[in-house]
Amino acid sequence: MILTPTANDEDLRLIPILDDLINQGWSVQKNFLDSATAAMLRAECLIRWQGGEFRHAGVGRGAELRIRPEVRSDHVCWLDPTIPDTPQQQQYFAIMEQLRQAVNRTLYLGLFQFEAFFAVYPPGTFYQKHLDRFRGSEERTLTAVLYLNEDWKEEDGGQLRLYLDEAGVGPHVDVLPESGTLAVFITEGRWHEVLPATRERMSLTGFFRTRG
Ligand code: OGA
Ligand code: MN
Repeated sequence: MILTPTANDEDLRLIPILDDLINQGWSVQKNFLDSATAAMLRAECLIRWQGGEFRHAGVGRGAELRIRPEVRSDHVCWLDPTIPDTPQQQQYFAIMEQLRQAVNRTLYLGLFQFEAFFAVYPPGTFYQKHLDRFRGSEERTLTAVLYLNEDWKEEDGGQLRLYLDEAGVGPHVDVLPESGTLAVFITEGRWHEVLPATRERMSLTGFFRTRG
């Protein structure tokens, strides 16, 4: 990666992600988000959760949308990037916009739109191995998951398991959903799952889409 004289701190933070995406198609960055912003996002997620703003997450979309707790049992609260409700959302969307532009500059993915939701996984819930693209749609191109859980331990479970082979049956990396960690991957063909946790697990998931 060649640094331009105009590279600023934000760009510097994105460089390892761009390198990883080019070399292996995925990247995991611990302490990507500062702890103050992560804590504010976590607080907002909790308020919305306790305020009943979450819905059972579905599988598929449109007429094919189904609630299938045997496949995924998390709850989600969609955000509107065009009307960020809070300063911390504004910051989150601004960082994701920087990532979008940096990825477009270096990988030419043509990322165009962004959609994001808070997710809560109550203890024991999970999301079985899946791909993030809907059947027949190639719009979702880059996935970015930001975690919001302080002091997460290995024994708490809840890892994001990213499979490294095309079939999604072999080698994998497990990502702890620790506050401030960002997991990014090229959506196409990347099998992954969320293992059950013993603690409530919160995250902010975003999908960058190309023009459909
Ligand atoms: C998803 C997903 C991963 C995670 O919401 O599609 O795979 O670690 N989330 O929360
Ligand atoms: Mn997923």
